[in-house]
Amino acid sequence: MSLRINDIAPDFTAETTHGPVSFHDWIGDGWAVLFSHPKNFTPVCTTELGAMGGLQPEFEKRGVKIIGISVDPVESHEKWKNDIRTATGFNVDYPLIGDKDLKVAKLYDMLPAGAGESSEGRTPADNATVRSVFVIGPDKKIKLVLTYPMTTGRNFEEILRAIDSIQLTSKHQVATPANWKQGEDVIITAAVSNEDAIARFGYYDTVLPYLRKTKQPG
Ligand code: BEZ
Repeated sequence: MSLRINDIAPDFTAETTHGPVSFHDWIGDGWAVLFSHPKNFTPVCTTELGAMGGLQPEFEKRGVKIIGISVDPVESHEKWKNDIRTATGFNVDYPLIGDKDLKVAKLYDMLPAGAGESSEGRTPADNATVRSVFVIGPDKKIKLVLTYPMTTGRNFEEILRAIDSIQLTSKHQVATPANWKQGEDVIITAAVSNEDAIARFGYYDTVLPYLRKTKQPG
């Protein structure tokens, strides 16, 4: 069965471009993004890994470590980094897992539905990880899951936006509306009474009886 929000992110050990990693220990007390790409030396993936290189400082600001994964070996990841720098101008300074035996890919259900259930019945294309993203909290629980098809590069700014919301709403009894960005008004959750809302937030606006908005708490 596939992993769901609030499941504990499966722990694993793996070879990476930064040496062996024990996943939960590597996450430590912070947040993590585990993201897979289908194959090294392919065009969309090259742009994606470069984009993540450029955004790494933004993830770090939020206390989030990033780690990539594909079924390519670590040596291939190392060779590919030059192309990513040439194409995008960004270095890949974050670790990349070399999941040659598909151990992590299977654990996180990152393989596409394929020709058969056993590895014998699957073609090399079936054994390429899809474009998955897992956001994991300090409690090691999965906070967000995304899966994109091979032909569609991800918008990693959206992952940052979602992390801003997840981190905010884990601290305060608020939710964030559609297309919300850091600093914009938030929604007071239904569990908070009107009286409590005044005590907590000082002010709120009743758009509908079940939609109350207030300033983003600090
Ligand atoms: C790409 O990144 O462009 C790609 C990866 C796997 C299959 C097809 C395209």
